[in-house]
Formats: sequence, structure tokens, C-alpha cells
Amino acid sequence: MTDHYNVISKQSAQNKRIVMRVDFNVPMQDGKILDDTRIKRVIPGIKTLLECSKQLILVTHLGRPKGNVDNTLSSQPLQEYLSEAVSMPVRFIAHIEDSSQLLEAVDSHDKICLLENCRFYAGEEQNDQNLARAYASLADIYVNDAFSCSHRSHASIQAITGFLPSYAGPVLAVELTALSDALESPKRPVAAFVGGAKISTKLSVLENLISKVDKLLLAGAMANTFLAARQVPVAASLYEPDLIPTAKTILELAQQQGCKIILPVDGVVSTKLEKGGRFHTRLNGALEDNEMILDIGPASVALFKEHIKDCKTLLWNGPAGAFEIAPYDEASKSLGAFIGMRTRNGQLISVAGGGDTVAAVNLAGVADELTYVSLAGGAFLEWIEGKSLPGIEALHS
Ligand code: 3PG
Repeated sequence: MTDHYNVISKQSAQNKRIVMRVDFNVPMQDGKILDDTRIKRVIPGIKTLLECSKQLILVTHLGRPKGNVDNTLSSQPLQEYLSEAVSMPVRFIAHIEDSSQLLEAVDSHDKICLLENCRFYAGEEQNDQNLARAYASLADIYVNDAFSCSHRSHASIQAITGFLPSYAGPVLAVELTALSDALESPKRPVAAFVGGAKISTKLSVLENLISKVDKLLLAGAMANTFLAARQVPVAASLYEPDLIPTAKTILELAQQQGCKIILPVDGVVSTKLEKGGRFHTRLNGALEDNEMILDIGPASVALFKEHIKDCKTLLWNGPAGAFEIAPYDEASKSLGAFIGMRTRNGQLISVAGGGDTVAAVNLAGVADELTYVSLAGGAFLEWIEGKSLPGIEALHS
């Protein structure tokens, strides 16, 4: 994947003014950063670019202000955090109504600047050429280090690449290599472990994965619809009856394409999803009418581990159960620890990402053990759906 575009290097950044798109869309409350994982990941690259470039201008969005100035979504609170992180003052550039005057607002003597939330401009989400030109006027080159935004055709992601020599940032480059190693040219056998609540939100993901992986391990409430499609009663469990025909089609297609679909064989069940409630482990088909499956059971965990053991590469998306509430986090923790252990031992290449997956990975305490944990939500899902991401396409040289 990385063959098709240029990755920023010290040489290409040398003495250049750089506009760098980052994703500092982090959870914040009253101006306080609640989770800085996304920011921390790009800081080393920012520091390296500061060493060799003339000026670095950071562009991010925060939330979805939809082209309006919304002070609760200002990027200003990030200024102090960044100054500390890079050990130098970071100039904050407030919103300018007329974006064509952006250049005048930036002092060329400031080594590093942070622009106000780019989604305060309506033109950002419209992929507006004029706004992109205004961003481009600030710099000699453009760097995209925001994989998690690269599924958006927005001015600071896509249109800007029409005006400046454009590069993949260091984190983006690593991310694309990891993703490519997991799905485009994986060491086989390759498995995908997909959890989550609904098939409806992951239809395209599943359809694409069965054409790519050797084994698809399904968990979460989504697996219930597949169990129902195989005539296994799921009692009061969450499932999507309307999608049973779709699940059947996926099962057939998988068989035709040589992809083995592995479903849970037991579940941890209860009559209510609540902390401290009574729960039981039941084999498939043994549920009382009012019980629902809230996590995959120990026999399923053991079965999934056996299948993972056979594989050299694993893609992980979604939790195994209702992992926010104990004990329905057990399977996610146990499988996460197993995936982490096999990765640490050099037996597995493991890439996780999308939606709640990072929370499940953190719960298992294996974020540092997996080969790569993508912090992207929607972009990761679109990538595993097999879609091309406009921000990445735009970097193709
Ligand atoms: C994300 O949090 O997934 C990215 O920052 C993209 O945000 P968006 O879904 O609002 O475009």
C-alpha cells in the first residue's frame, strides 16, 4: 500500500512550511482532555518535523459543528497540552470568518501553530476548493497524519492535496502498513474475529471479510442472528429476525469462498443486562424462554482460541459480549489476553480497531502487545469493508 504514495521524511520536510492534518477529535469535557491517546500517538512525528521544518501548522476537527462556530468544540483547549508535549509555545489561530485571509493571521515566525476547529468552516465538509486553497497558502507541503479522518472527502483531507505536494504522515504510514499486512497481503491462515451488536451495521464488513479471510469468528449479539439462521433458538437474546435471510446468504457465500464461519457454541446468559444480576452458562439451544445471551461462553472461548492458534494473522473488530458490564466482559478479556500472548510470542500478527474495539483491547490490557491497534472508528470499518478511502486515494502519487 505504501508503495503508491510518498511518506514524509526529514529530507522532504527540510526547511518547509507544513500544513499537517491530525485527528485531535478526542473526548473532552469543560475544556479538559479525557483521553489523549490519539494525540499522544502523533506527538513523536510532530517533534521530528519540528526539528527539520520551517513551520508546522496543525489542522484538526473536533466533534461535528457542521460549519458553525461552536465554542464548546473549540480546539483552543488543546493549545496548552500541545505546548507542553512539544516543549515550545504553540500559537493558536482563532477562527477567521473569511478563510481567504488565513495567511495574514499566521505569523511566519511562529514555529508551530494550531488552527481553530476546521469544521467551523462550512467549506470543510463540502471539500471546498477555496478553503483548501486557503489552507494550502499557509504551506509548501501537506502531510496527512489522520487515518481516522481519511474516509472523509473534506477540504483539509482531500481537496488540499490538489494544491500542495502531499505526504502520508509517520503514523498514517505505519497504520496503512499494518492494515495491509492484516488483510491485503496477510500471512495465512488469516482469521477475523468480529463482535458487536448488529449485523445490519456490519453487513459490508462481513461480505468483504469472507472473501479475504480463511476463518471468520463471530461473537456478540451479531452472532445470535447467525445462530438463528442455523435454527438454533436464541430465546430472548438480541438478534435481527429480518436479517436471517441475509445471514443465511453470508453463510452460503462463505462456504462457496472457502471461508469457515465459526459461531459460539455456548453463552453466558441472564434475564436482564445489569450489574450484579444472576447469570448462567448455557450451551446453545438450552436457554430458558426469558434468557438472553450476553457474552459468549467458556466453550466458545476455548473453540475460538483453537481456531486462532491455527492462524498467523488476526484482525479483531468488536467486543465478544456486553463487555461494559461484568461478568459479560470475560470472553473479551480472555480472548484479548490470548491474542496478546500469541502476538508477544511471535506466533501471530494481530491488528485491532474500529468502534468499541479499543475499549475491549484496553480492558484486556493488551494494547501494547498487539501488532497494531488502530484508533480509527468509521475509517477502520470502511477500510475493512474494502472501500477506498478518499483521503488515502488523494495521496497517491
Ligand atoms: C473519528 O472520531 O472517528 C474521527 O475523528 C472522524 O470523525 P467524524 O466521524 O466526525 O468524521
